[in-house]
Amino acid sequence: MIGLVTGANRGLGYEMIKEGLRRGHTMLAACRNTGDETSVGGLLKLKEQYPGSLRILEMDVTDREMTEKAALQVQQEFGHIDFLVNNAGVLFEKMVMPGDAIADLDVEKFRKTLDVNVTGTAIVLKYFIRLLYASEDACIMNITSEAGHLSPQGYNYLAYSVSKHAANMYTQKVRNYLAEEQADRHMRIYMIHPGRMDTIMGKENAQIPPSESAAGLYDILDRKKQIPDMDVPFINYRGEPMPY
Ligand SMILES: NC(=O)c1ccc[n+]([C@@H]2O[C@H](COP(=O)([O-])OP(=O)(O)OC[C@H]3O[C@@H](n4cnc5c(N)ncnc54)[C@H](OP(=O)(O)O)[C@@H]3O)[C@@H](O)[C@H]2O)c1
Repeated sequence: MIGLVTGANRGLGYEMIKEGLRRGHTMLAACRNTGDETSVGGLLKLKEQYPGSLRILEMDVTDREMTEKAALQVQQEFGHIDFLVNNAGVLFEKMVMPGDAIADLDVEKFRKTLDVNVTGTAIVLKYFIRLLYASEDACIMNITSEAGHLSPQGYNYLAYSVSKHAANMYTQKVRNYLAEEQADRHMRIYMIHPGRMDTIMGKENAQIPPSESAAGLYDILDRKKQIPDMDVPFINYRGEPMPY
């Protein structure tokens, strides 16, 4: 299969590329800054290890033109993709928030969080959906978070939680559209909590290495782990249903 992963230079994105190559897939690694060797160093090493199976693409998910250009490149080179992992994400907040959560809101960071975590996901899908339609067995994984579910307790990670709830809603709308208007394509789509991973973003609460999450996600992608049809396909990396 041919798979595209956004935010592929580190964290879960990088592990998804590495595990995908190990399992024999052709991987397209979309990164914000391909010119920065320290940022994409791990991917360059993988390219040496798996010549011909890894393509690195420049793609800031908030940049429409760049994303459209990348999709055009993939269209010309491969004609389709079989899976898309919308993984790129940002978290600018800490577990404990100083000051008044409402009055001291950092508006710019709030905006940027929604821009990457929600609008970015929609932009990527806008330009890559036709490449997924061209696959015979397509799957979309939107990496959201347990932080996205409504809960009567807690106000930490405010902007991030808002963005992940919105990303779940976006995924649900896409799922409903596919079910109602594109049912004959049999596309799978999931919103996924990848676990509390030991990455730059997740180190405050880490419970698992990102490689464990990546292995779980490929078991779902490769149908080693069967997921029943769900009205609201919000699951964790082990394929278990998540509360929303
Ligand atoms: N870690 C956790 O415990 C945890 C828990 C729940 C959900 N998640 C979700 O899992 C996903 C991966 O998280 P992670 O822990 O691997 O995070 P990470 O280590 O911070 O990596 C985030 C990735 O997203 C990329 N990115 C950020 N903004 C981008 C943009 N505008 N365009 C393209 N790429 C961009 C980063 O690229 P640069 O290197 O260029 O910044 C980096 O590759 C995220 O969606 C996150 O919200 C993580």
